[in-house]
Amino acid sequence: MTEQKIPRKLRKCHNIADLRKLAKKSLPFPIFDHVDGGCDDEVTLSDNTEVFGNYSLIPRYCSGVENVDASTTVLGSKIEWPYFAGPAGGLKYLHRDGEIGVARAAHKSGTAFAMSGWTTTKPEDVVAATHGPRFFQLQPCRSREVMAEMIQLAKDEGFNALIITVDNPIHGNRERDARSGFGVPANFTAKAMLSIICKPRWALSMLPMPGFGLYDKWLTDPDRDMTWLAHQLITNITWEDIAWIRSQWEGPFAVKGLVNVEDAREAVDAGASAVILSNQGARHFDTAPAALEMLPEFVDAIGDRAEVIFDSGIRRGTDILKAMALGATAVTGARLYCYGLAAGGQAGVERALNLLRAEVERDMVFLGARTLAEVTPNSIRKRTMPI
Ligand SMILES: Cc1cc2nc3c(=O)[nH]c(=O)nc-3n(C[C@H](O)[C@H](O)[C@H](O)COP(=O)(O)O)c2cc1C
Repeated sequence: MTEQKIPRKLRKCHNIADLRKLAKKSLPFPIFDHVDGGCDDEVTLSDNTEVFGNYSLIPRYCSGVENVDASTTVLGSKIEWPYFAGPAGGLKYLHRDGEIGVARAAHKSGTAFAMSGWTTTKPEDVVAATHGPRFFQLQPCRSREVMAEMIQLAKDEGFNALIITVDNPIHGNRERDARSGFGVPANFTAKAMLSIICKPRWALSMLPMPGFGLYDKWLTDPDRDMTWLAHQLITNITWEDIAWIRSQWEGPFAVKGLVNVEDAREAVDAGASAVILSNQGARHFDTAPAALEMLPEFVDAIGDRAEVIFDSGIRRGTDILKAMALGATAVTGARLYCYGLAAGGQAGVERALNLLRAEVERDMVFLGARTLAEVTPNSIRKRTMPI
């Protein structure tokens, strides 16, 4: 999209923080809070972004670098820059463009889209409407039979990689949601209802209400109602289950949501070809370390056996390059594009991803790095200056 064709309100957004402000204006507060918030005191939520300030990138000049190649390979798919759109449930509640809008924007920007198990669009519709790399995020289930059905669906639809998210064995304590009454089913407070009424465009665009694109299939079976689904999806699986899932899926396979280096070793021993170092954006457990704190240990422990994908806290191109300099093989995250989606649908996601990709490519010139292989531990230093 040329600069003139970008809607004016998005053109005025110059970074992810600007898109976040616009998202806040566009959404009723319970929906914005559900995306933006974390659990308990939101300590890890703020640590995830602030931790990047503990590191400096060291520019290099007279390198002759003008054009850069920021491409890499993640989960078996070549991407043009080292970020992919991570799984986020309920995208149609942010904007009717939903999962298809995000996938199309990701593919236009040269990267991959990971579809959440909590998708509000049917997987087959996402596949039919898009043409780039797609990853399938599996929510662990109590029954292997149900997981086998989902894995088969991912195979039938031609998803390129499987991601299993393991870090919400139970729901975290999200107090912003509790205050507004956000949940399944929602039980909105009067203040929350008023904020929905005050956003009539958003409210009308939600009719008819989005369903569960993946789980609706199971809910048509009379023996499988919402109570059954909730019981299936709230479960603490084991490394044996992970090894079993691996045995059902031949392609690239990532375990998402690990911050403990022992878990990273277990995941690779169980057959994971990638580990997604992540605290899920502090949405379920507070006081976990900021993901970046753990990155060097992860790279030391498993970097020679598996991809180390970094997640949680990326808002800037320099954040991406810091993670790459510390040894990540690629990065992901969701809020940064969720803000874009809420701010302007697919065009808003395109704005978010284009801004971020431009930052990465511009900053690589400053680092004198023609390719990501030249973004190394020599490119980064821990700050000694007090912040
Ligand atoms: C609205 C929302 C929904 C999410 N849903 C899922 C999900 O269904 N599955 C999952 O693995 N992660 C989910 N995540 C977590 C993201 O994949 C990612 O780990 C997290 O957003 C990282 O934090 P950041 O976006 O602040 O960088 C969700 C995140 C958000 C913001």
